[in-house]
Amino acid sequence: MGSHILYPLIFSCLLFYGLLFCASGFTSTRFVKDTQRKLICTSVLVPLTSSPVSYLECARKCQHQPDCTAFMFSPENSISPSATSDARSGTCLWCPADSIVNISYTPADPQLETWVNIQGYLMSPPTTGESMAIPGGLSVGRFVVFQGRVPEPAPRRSLLTLFVNDTDNVAVRVSPRFDFDGHVNRLLINSRIDSQWKTQVFPEGFFPFSPGQNFEIAVLATTGGFTVYIDGEFIKTVTRTAHMAGDVRYASIEDFEMFFVTA
Ligand SMILES: *[C@@H]1O[C@H](CO)[C@@H](O)[C@H](O)[C@H]1NC(C)=O
Ligand SMILES: *[C@@H]1O[C@H](CO)[C@@H](O)[C@H](O)[C@H]1NC(C)=O
Repeated sequence: MGSHILYPLIFSCLLFYGLLFCASGFTSTRFVKDTQRKLICTSVLVPLTSSPVSYLECARKCQHQPDCTAFMFSPENSISPSATSDARSGTCLWCPADSIVNISYTPADPQLETWVNIQGYLMSPPTTGESMAIPGGLSVGRFVVFQGRVPEPAPRRSLLTLFVNDTDNVAVRVSPRFDFDGHVNRLLINSRIDSQWKTQVFPEGFFPFSPGQNFEIAVLATTGGFTVYIDGEFIKTVTRTAHMAGDVRYASIEDFEMFFVTA
């Protein structure tokens, strides 16, 4: 589990987002540099522009390119030390949203920045039982990140649910059970179609949650389903609800303390 290494970076990064967005007051699409994650495409990455440009120009191109939800920016080597970050020029590469299949949490090349087009961000974190709208819905090639903490003492179980419009259709539900219905420290991931639940209970011994501990859950929508990550580790792909991509408009939590949500 990479959680202990990841957290300090995540928080400084979100603080940066906060300044950026509070200052602009916009809720429309924006690009933010994701220092934690890299998107994995099945297709070859292609350049967005024919010559080196600033990342702002790359963002503008991506915004006008149908199916561009993110791009990679590789700054040119010969940057003068006095160049501000906005003035750096470089190459930007992208792949269409429907070829994004996975998230890599391994910081690869520090010279290759991932810029993600987010629809809304830091929505006020939901409180227990309250539904929170996911701006723009969770369409293919987009992901949502939840950062929070497990209460201490541990609840009997906690729930994070991504659903369409009512809980009869749940794309993904992540539920650590601390002591609930015969499950002690077991992770359950379920989905629900027209009120029919399907549940995967993870093996004993695999339980990436503990009372009072911070966590990050990320869910990426792909053409093959919803891929779920806990603390930077790939957990599973929920394929059964793949058809709900784009329709998943709400999230709710129960017995988790949520700090930040980015979509
Ligand atoms: C995503 O990447 C992880 C880590 O490299 C890998 O274990 C997992 O199988 C991949 N998942 C998919 C759906 O490709
Ligand atoms: C929820 O969505 C389904 C399918 O998109 C639709 O048929 C249904 O009327 C919606 N229900 C509510 C309560 O909006």
